[in-house]
Amino acid sequence: MESLLWRRIAVFMAVCCLILVPFVVDAKTKSRQRFEVQKHLRRLNKPPVQTIKSPDGDTIDCVRTHHQPAFDHPFLKNHTIQMRPSFHPEGLYSANKVSGPKQASISQTQLWHLTGRCPQGTIPIRRTTRDDILKASSVKTFGKKKHRSMPLPPKSADPDLVNESGHQHAIAYVQGDKYYGAKATINVWEPKIQQSNEFSLSQLWILGGSFGEDLNSIEAGWQVSPDLYGDNNTRLFTYWTSDAYQATGCYNLLCSGFIQINSDIAMGASIFPVSGYRGSQYDISILVWKDPKEGNWWMQFGNDYVLGYWPSFLFSYLADSASMIEWGGEVVNSEPDGEHTSTEMGSGHFPDEGFSKASYFRNIQVVDGSNNLRGPKGIGTFTEQSNCYNVQNGYNGDWGNYFYYGGPGKNSKCP
Ligand SMILES: *[C@@H]1O[C@H](CO)[C@@H](O)[C@H](O)[C@H]1NC(C)=O
Ligand SMILES: *[C@@H]1O[C@H](CO)[C@@H](O)[C@H](O)[C@H]1NC(C)=O
Ligand SMILES: *[C@@H]1O[C@H](CO)[C@@H](O)[C@H](O)[C@H]1NC(C)=O
Repeated sequence: MESLLWRRIAVFMAVCCLILVPFVVDAKTKSRQRFEVQKHLRRLNKPPVQTIKSPDGDTIDCVRTHHQPAFDHPFLKNHTIQMRPSFHPEGLYSANKVSGPKQASISQTQLWHLTGRCPQGTIPIRRTTRDDILKASSVKTFGKKKHRSMPLPPKSADPDLVNESGHQHAIAYVQGDKYYGAKATINVWEPKIQQSNEFSLSQLWILGGSFGEDLNSIEAGWQVSPDLYGDNNTRLFTYWTSDAYQATGCYNLLCSGFIQINSDIAMGASIFPVSGYRGSQYDISILVWKDPKEGNWWMQFGNDYVLGYWPSFLFSYLADSASMIEWGGEVVNSEPDGEHTSTEMGSGHFPDEGFSKASYFRNIQVVDGSNNLRGPKGIGTFTEQSNCYNVQNGYNGDWGNYFYYGGPGKNSKCP
């Protein structure tokens, strides 16, 4: 009799526990997550000297150059900031020559300049908010491309892998040589994004290593990414990884890595204005090159802004040179409702429409073994589904090597 009673009590207690434990664990998880988010925000948002409110809603913090997130990296504790590169590649195109067919395109800068500038000795950092981080699946993945979002190896593309990742490209590329940098002038648009977890970007990739677990990549260009920035604006961005998008690397200054020296340009800030269909065309120039003396990879925006550098120690293969360069567009196709996404690439129009309608890359160049800028040899092009996004390359006197790329995504031929 007695043992039956005890058994009943034991069963009752066990059932109570099973019901209650999930609540307790859930509350604990929530508070740990709140703590993690706070901690991460403190790491990313350094105390500013001055703060500027941008018309697009961004907050730009002017942070002392030697207080930026890069210097949280243990290897950078005693780092002496390089205030200028020891070398700048010279090439085919002189610094001030900007030209296009029929209509000159205009270079432009960043929206927040309308309301202020950061003082010398500081760098502008786009402030990260709680909401920004909570949109990511975890604190760990915030500011990172999702695993497997590697740019494709065009020759050896494994179709299953390509389609599995849902990332689609329309690119031009060169491989088979040693490259010490790359340059391009990129037409700027504001492609429509169907779902907030998708993005559309136009960039160059500097690649080293294999496409397995050890890919080294330096990336820069413009992107529209609602989940990362909370809106549909076109933004300047950089990315790096030294292990195929797994543990290392991030967008912009969202982890320790890139060292910024420039007080005018904020990573992740909106580019303004953007091109219109049959309207004014705007483009940005991006140059990334390796300093042959220090080994660091530098980045320049436009003709006037040397932004900073990725220290050589961040990389394995790229510590020496790149084995492949890619230029072009990438979108995420999350296949809403089992159909192709209508997220646009470039202008959202196919390459055959041409200037002021389709988006372009012009004057694409590489830095060769003698540290000279020159036109790339043996350019290939690649796209997974040309009926969704396509690419068409060409050559002329003004634009050197160029290509048009992009498309609307979902349409009658790309259901
Ligand atoms: C930085 O310098 C200090 C003092 O000179 C030294 O003890 C420390 O090991 C150095 N750290 C690194 C990462 O080089
Ligand atoms: C990816 O999937 C689409 C649709 O299923 C198919 O048409 C396309 O050929 C695939 N791409 C590659 C590179 O296999
Ligand atoms: C971004 O654009 C999509 C449509 O393309 C719209 O549904 C969404 O509300 C926009 N998001 C913001 C934050 O404006």
